[in-house]
Amino acid sequence: MFSINRRDMILGSFALAGLPRMALADADGFIDIGAFETQVQLVEGNYPKTTVWGFNDSVPGPMLGGKQGERMRVRLINGLSEDTAVHWHGMRVQNAMDGVPGMTMDPVPPQGSFEYDIALKDAGTYWYHSHNRSLEQVSKGLYGVVVVEETAPPDVDHDLVVVLDDWRLSPEAQITDDFGNMHDLSHGGRLGNYIHAVVEPMPARLQANQRLRLRFVNTATDRIMPMVLRGVEGWVVARDGMPLAVPETIGPLTLGPAERVDVIVDVTAGAGGEVLLAFREGDQGYVLTQFPVLAGTRAPRDAVVALPPNPISQIASIEGARTVPVMMGGGAMGGLRSATFEGEEMEMRALVERGQVWALNGVAGLPAEPLFQAARGETIVLKMRNDTAFPHAMHVHGMHFQEVLPDGRFGPHKDTVLLMRGEERAFAFIADNPGKWLVHCHMLSHQTAGMKTWFTVS
Ligand code: C2O
Ligand code: CU
Repeated sequence: MFSINRRDMILGSFALAGLPRMALADADGFIDIGAFETQVQLVEGNYPKTTVWGFNDSVPGPMLGGKQGERMRVRLINGLSEDTAVHWHGMRVQNAMDGVPGMTMDPVPPQGSFEYDIALKDAGTYWYHSHNRSLEQVSKGLYGVVVVEETAPPDVDHDLVVVLDDWRLSPEAQITDDFGNMHDLSHGGRLGNYIHAVVEPMPARLQANQRLRLRFVNTATDRIMPMVLRGVEGWVVARDGMPLAVPETIGPLTLGPAERVDVIVDVTAGAGGEVLLAFREGDQGYVLTQFPVLAGTRAPRDAVVALPPNPISQIASIEGARTVPVMMGGGAMGGLRSATFEGEEMEMRALVERGQVWALNGVAGLPAEPLFQAARGETIVLKMRNDTAFPHAMHVHGMHFQEVLPDGRFGPHKDTVLLMRGEERAFAFIADNPGKWLVHCHMLSHQTAGMKTWFTVS
């Protein structure tokens, strides 16, 4: 065991033309990411720095990843005064690397460390975040992006990561310490007052007709992000890391918590114009970032072709598949009167006292028994129904699912999906990754307040 000292940590990073900066491994093959309390200039202008929890003193943490087919080795070092753990969201990792304390690993105590060794099976945009007391730890900044490059990446002039977050700040730009209050937990979660986008690397300038790849990641604990892009035209090429078989013309982009979308767009604004990214809700809009456009020499280009598919099995049919109902209940203005918590049937009032106000199939909190036990290779259909007054961002660990569309076809591979109030939709996946896996709402307030379950594959 080595001592934890920030100066010992290798913060290597280098710039590749047009590609996000990626952290480099140490001589022993590991990239160290240290979770520490630190200060960052989150709000521009005359504001003090914000005290955050970040990996390697930055929020977002260092960009991780590599080329598809490589391995990524990351050593998590805990410089906090409480336990932590890192989950690799959307990455089809071995169960022991999934980063769920109490289920796939022991929590990493203060001064402790854990070594993750991950095969980069799938190209695309993923992210990592704390999975211990995650509402508070992710709110404070313990997350970063993972970019796995295709072996032959598409031809673009800039490959940019756009990390979206929603902070609840005091007038002094400090994170408010009101985590887990019952109003947030039982309604739409911890919604902030400062929506922020970090673009990496920040291009100095854009030119007319340049082609950009933008990798959007919504790291907010609870905020759904409707986004507008101006000054560009193009295609959605991947969702939740996974390439779309046929790129879609870009429309309004809405990302639920933890969702990602990759777009490839051409700058259509002319010289003197601008490319602009805005958050938009109803009539309200805030510009998150804007780039002036200079004259360029690029000629307009052909339509984008699909990214190469990842080595993930496509569902061919759900005939004979096992259907598992997942009924979401609870929360404010919902109809739930009682639920089981820790094996005991309780009235809503008792559930509120325990901070457990959301249930899946009538069970609040993580049940002792799995929701189902799949045989390896079995096809599972999760029939999800949102019987609450709020939207939920349902996430399955370890495997991507495909929506079973009303016409019988299958949607793109996803790892997180927004279900609006009253919706009932079915999602199928092949249970090909052995282990214990979580299913939960990625509105981390809802997850904290009970909306989670698990299953096994063996
Ligand atoms: Cu992004 Cu269970 O997590
Ligand atoms: Cu939810």
